[in-house]
Amino acid sequence: MDRRSPFPSTYPWTKAPVIAQAPMLNIAGPELATAVSAAGGIGFIAGGNDVSNLEGKLQKAEQLVREYKAAEGSPDQNRLQLYDGSNLPVGVGFLSWGADLKMALPLIIRYRPCAVWLFAPPNSAADQVPWVEGIRTQTGGSVTIWVQVGSVEDATDAVVKLQPDVLVVQGSDGGGHGLQHSASIVSLVPEIIDHLDAKPSVNANDSLKPKIVAAGGLVDGRGVAVALTLGAEAVVMGTRFLASLEVPIPKGYQQAIIEASDGGIHTIRSAVYDRVRGFLSWPPKYSPRGIVNQTHTDFVAGKVTEQQNYELYQQALKKGNPGYGPNGRLATFAGTAVGLVKEILPAGEIVRRTRKETESILKIDRLAKL
Ligand SMILES: Cc1cc2nc3c(=O)[nH]c(=O)nc-3n(C[C@H](O)[C@H](O)[C@H](O)COP(=O)(O)O)c2cc1C
Repeated sequence: MDRRSPFPSTYPWTKAPVIAQAPMLNIAGPELATAVSAAGGIGFIAGGNDVSNLEGKLQKAEQLVREYKAAEGSPDQNRLQLYDGSNLPVGVGFLSWGADLKMALPLIIRYRPCAVWLFAPPNSAADQVPWVEGIRTQTGGSVTIWVQVGSVEDATDAVVKLQPDVLVVQGSDGGGHGLQHSASIVSLVPEIIDHLDAKPSVNANDSLKPKIVAAGGLVDGRGVAVALTLGAEAVVMGTRFLASLEVPIPKGYQQAIIEASDGGIHTIRSAVYDRVRGFLSWPPKYSPRGIVNQTHTDFVAGKVTEQQNYELYQQALKKGNPGYGPNGRLATFAGTAVGLVKEILPAGEIVRRTRKETESILKIDRLAKL
């Protein structure tokens, strides 16, 4: 990837400002990822920490891409018609603390996703070196490397050790897992850019400079315009796509997203949501942001023990949809911008609308350079 060239020349079906969709564990499947890419964004399938069922998802994505390419309609609605490259026009995201490289690499070689996204190494970026080396060597560099980080320190570590093509800068507002201690993209994106610019080893060598993408709290054109103004070249949205037609989440979860407001108050980053689910392998500096509900409030108020909270959670699981919402107990991961998400839409429509809103806020000549 030529890091000085705009996103659409590396990912030819995309349209600036490029909106990527986060590889949300158990949520971002081939239907969502291909719909986002067909609308001119970059969709990511969640490979997560367990790669054993990834091949079926990649096969399905291949089939959907073939269907999009063969479908009628204007390229404005279906930009995959414009794409004749050999990489799959969707990426795959992996959780570095759990995913197995030996299982993942043959799939990456066979299906050639346009990008591999790495997040949350057990210790540091050094853990991700075998992934980056393996992918680059075995795919001749045709699969680009995206690394998500949440601090200046982790950004520097990733750039020096991995030289990612794209650095996804995840701010504190983001839904799902992120650093327990973090800043919003408003300061984090420019601080990382300034820090990398000031680092002689990085600044002297253009091939070390990744493209910067902002994630966390972005759900519409107003947020995207801000992220681009801060210096990001593209954005990632996760929470916004929870209210899309293509996500296989329970109706109760989706309803809780639509109904939530005032995300700074009604969402919280809390490791309690991992413990009640028995999800204990995350490195300790990460915890998930989700809608505040009884699982969190009862525990911090000392009304339940760890064990009681776990058991109550198992009971809530049996309830299904009514187990969600502020008075429910089920983990409902979402970011602070959830209060701006009011409508369930097709994912492609979300991408097109957000792009249009951004265009009308920013001058078109700024977008032409992205
Ligand atoms: C429900 C949910 C699940 C997520 N799962 C993952 C994941 O498996 N891997 C990952 O790298 N990021 C994951 N994230 C974080 C996203 O990569 C991204 O940083 C975040 O969604 C951006 O903030 P936003 O939700 O405000 O758009 C998840 C986010 C959400 C909302």
